[in-house]
Amino acid sequence: MDDRLIIFDTTLRDGEQSPGASMTKEEKLRIARQLERMRVDVIEAGFPAASPGDFEAVKAVAEAIKDSIVCALARATERDIQQAAEALRGAASGRIHTFIATSPIHMEKKLRMAPDQVVEQAIKAVKWARQHTDDVEFSPEDAGRSEIDFLCRILEQVIAAGATTINIPDTVGYSVPQQFGALIKTLRERIPNSDKVVWSVHCHNDLGLAVANSLAAVLNGARQVECTINGLGERAGNAALEEIVMTVRTRRDVFPCDTRIDTTQIVPASRLVAGITGFPVQPNKAIVGANAFAHESGIHQDGVLKSRETYEIMRAEDVGWTANRMVLGKHSGRNAFRTRLKELGIEIESEEVLNAAFARFKELADKKHEIFDEDLHALMSDEAFTL
Ligand code: KIV
Ligand code: ZN
Repeated sequence: MDDRLIIFDTTLRDGEQSPGASMTKEEKLRIARQLERMRVDVIEAGFPAASPGDFEAVKAVAEAIKDSIVCALARATERDIQQAAEALRGAASGRIHTFIATSPIHMEKKLRMAPDQVVEQAIKAVKWARQHTDDVEFSPEDAGRSEIDFLCRILEQVIAAGATTINIPDTVGYSVPQQFGALIKTLRERIPNSDKVVWSVHCHNDLGLAVANSLAAVLNGARQVECTINGLGERAGNAALEEIVMTVRTRRDVFPCDTRIDTTQIVPASRLVAGITGFPVQPNKAIVGANAFAHESGIHQDGVLKSRETYEIMRAEDVGWTANRMVLGKHSGRNAFRTRLKELGIEIESEEVLNAAFARFKELADKKHEIFDEDLHALMSDEAFTL
């Protein structure tokens, strides 16, 4: 297990916390199905206590997904944990993720709790969660700005109370790689029974270091990374799943572990999330940007034509780029239509749905010269086509 890096995707929870990125239950289901197809290990589907809509979305994802663990977030309160457990009831494998802040500024100004009370609440939360499932994750929120002695104390106690994954969040993206890697190493060395839990990290991108910090943690023993498609997330976002996965896969000489991700599903997942949230991917974005495998200068083009490895460290097709970019319009056929939907991560469940969707596509194509990916997402967004 030590050579496996667990990919915990939080696009549907932290990703949805991006201002303007909220998703409907149907949209969350479509993304969850694509994450499962990509072989993500854990899908954090939402925060059931946050709203009735989020509760229903987590419940629907939990009932639909069979090959990934479905996780629900809960504050360290009995009510939140009960709601998370209730939403996860139909899951093949469910995880409760409970958290409480541990930095001096959060404890004093936000929680208005003394450190001893925070420890007590964290222990209770893990015990409540363990009454519902054996798979319990605990996060000391704002760990990146917490005191090391206090972190060791609270984490030792939550492990004794039954937490099975310990997640270290750099909530405000304040850490730098060397320091964050050292933090993971110190925690693993100092805390008794640290080898009995999976160490996880959850890095925000306020300084543009989320991926670098996550990878530094992996080099120091973390075996779960929390990340999102296209790096979506609160403020400047989270670590980008595609960058984490492709770095460990491409640099097997540096990293002692790899993921089980089907990397050919990365670009479809990226497009699906961009289409649903309306957050476009910048052209020069690593792995999934339109220019990630494009060569403009004559010297580069010449080199790539002679041997692709001269300027390409990964193969575009390995991350799901397809060589042919066919223009879709009124003369396009069903096969081209179906293929483009697949590339966009949109699954067609039956011939009937395909026929109805194709008829709608033709109607639209009569009115528009070219049909773009955004048009297809809009065309397919009706519940009738997704459920
Ligand atoms: O950023 C954060 O601290 C979080 C926790 C809930 C893990 O999202
Ligand atoms: Zn977060």
